[in-house]
Amino acid sequence: MTVVAIDGPGGAGKSTVARALAERLGVERLDTGAMYRALALAALRRSIPADDEARLAVLARSMRLQVGDRVVLDDEDVSAAIRGEDVDAVVSVVAAHPLVREELVARQRAWVAERGSGVVEGRDIASVVLPCADLKVYLTADPAERARRRATDCRAAAARPAGTRGADVGEVLEAIGRRDAFDTGRSVSPLVVADGAVVVDSTGRSVDDIVDELWGLL
Ligand code: DC
Repeated sequence: MTVVAIDGPGGAGKSTVARALAERLGVERLDTGAMYRALALAALRRSIPADDEARLAVLARSMRLQVGDRVVLDDEDVSAAIRGEDVDAVVSVVAAHPLVREELVARQRAWVAERGSGVVEGRDIASVVLPCADLKVYLTADPAERARRRATDCRAAAARPAGTRGADVGEVLEAIGRRDAFDTGRSVSPLVVADGAVVVDSTGRSVDDIVDELWGLL
């Protein structure tokens, strides 16, 4: 029965590390960013503005969402759609509303309570969602490496044919810088290094190396 919280900025390698650590522990992984992304996508499709907290909160309460290897929103597989530029552009604003967070944090805690274990990744997992996690990790990497990883993620998500131009690393660097500033500077549950969290810099390190380190801390 092990609960691990992994927080950090975009592109730090949270998903890859969380997946590998969960596998080694034999537990499930929850990507909470995917939950905020799914809500942002649902809002875009209904033309609900990103600053309309009341309508977003109603939508958050009513959406049926499963987040596992695939992300399923109201019976539709939206795993690729939630990684689109349209979602990137609004998700930080959507995620900053207290009423939205109240609902999604409740769902995240319920997910852990049902299983009694898991690796949960996001921005406020150690600070707000699961402050009593067995291990709290703040995973980071230098901005250029984070942008390179995110650019690769974008290409994979869009499944562009080989040889065609993917996301531009410079543009991605700028976009993740904007989102990081927003996620860190917001008044509700900002991205912080939580009390008791171990800071791990993934720059230039292999996934196995990082997972070995985290394993040793459990
Ligand atoms: O990790 P990501 O890029 O998929 O996250 C998408 C957005 O959701 C990002 O702007 C931060 C926000 N987020 C959050 O506020 N709290 C979380 N626990 C996870 C993500």
